[in-house]
Amino acid sequence: MDEKEAENYALAGKILQKVVQKAKKSIEPGQKLLEIAQNIEKSIEELGKELGAPKKGAKPAFPVNLSINENAAHYTPDFEDETALKESDVIKVDVGVHIDGYIADTAFTLNFDNKHAKMIEAAEEALSNALALAKEGASVGKIGAEIEKTIKAKGFNPIQNLSGHGLKRWEQHAPPSIPNNERKDERKLEDGNAYAIEPFATNGEGWVRESQQAGIFALEEPRQVRNQYAREVLGFIAEEYQTLPFAERWLQEKLEMSDFQRKIALRELLKSGCIRAFPVLREAPGKIVAQAEKSILFHKGKITEIC
Ligand code: CO
Repeated sequence: MDEKEAENYALAGKILQKVVQKAKKSIEPGQKLLEIAQNIEKSIEELGKELGAPKKGAKPAFPVNLSINENAAHYTPDFEDETALKESDVIKVDVGVHIDGYIADTAFTLNFDNKHAKMIEAAEEALSNALALAKEGASVGKIGAEIEKTIKAKGFNPIQNLSGHGLKRWEQHAPPSIPNNERKDERKLEDGNAYAIEPFATNGEGWVRESQQAGIFALEEPRQVRNQYAREVLGFIAEEYQTLPFAERWLQEKLEMSDFQRKIALRELLKSGCIRAFPVLREAPGKIVAQAEKSILFHKGKITEIC
């Protein structure tokens, strides 16, 4: 990794830290999820300008995920989403910023009635223990074991089929996976790479399933499509988001086509394998999930937290 790349990661992380500080102060019960997501996404571009992002600016690396209670990940509000945040909700706010494809990824959990403070603490403590081990050069299997041990010691379960990941340019989920439980995986973090570590703690069994619902998509493999709206959407996402995830609601804002035309286009792009969907991932009904996440950069022999 050259200095320029390392600088891009560091700047993406610095902007993201500010975005998160601002979001933590402004999110309140009663707000609509749509408003929360739009405010955060707008603040990425604004804080990017303020902190001197290069000409294309700082952009969301993926749609803000606002997953509540048993929803563990991949929920982003639709453009007509009326859901409002409740005091009793446990909301995971997962945000990414990219500078020219270089991604910083972070997440935090809020619960305004404090009934699940211990679970949030379990996820946060697991993250800080995992980060400490990562800096000492532990294997990804060992990092996973530490996360599992920390979360179980607090009386919760880690989610086994969600994991941290490498971050590559234009690639949000690059190998290796950084598990949230003990694995026989001796791979170590390598110099010249960025990673995200993201423990999830739950009072459920620790296993998420894909739901039928998806508002987040990403380019998979561009192919010929017949429908003119599908072609238009494909051209737009390839140019605008490349291989990073995007929200249907972003297309609604940026493309002049009817809701019906956009739906048809997305359906055809999914069917032909041009794009993939990220279904909302859920624990069992009535269970609760908390998450904590930070990104690190391994550069010139040293691991630093970028956000
Ligand atoms: Co992540």
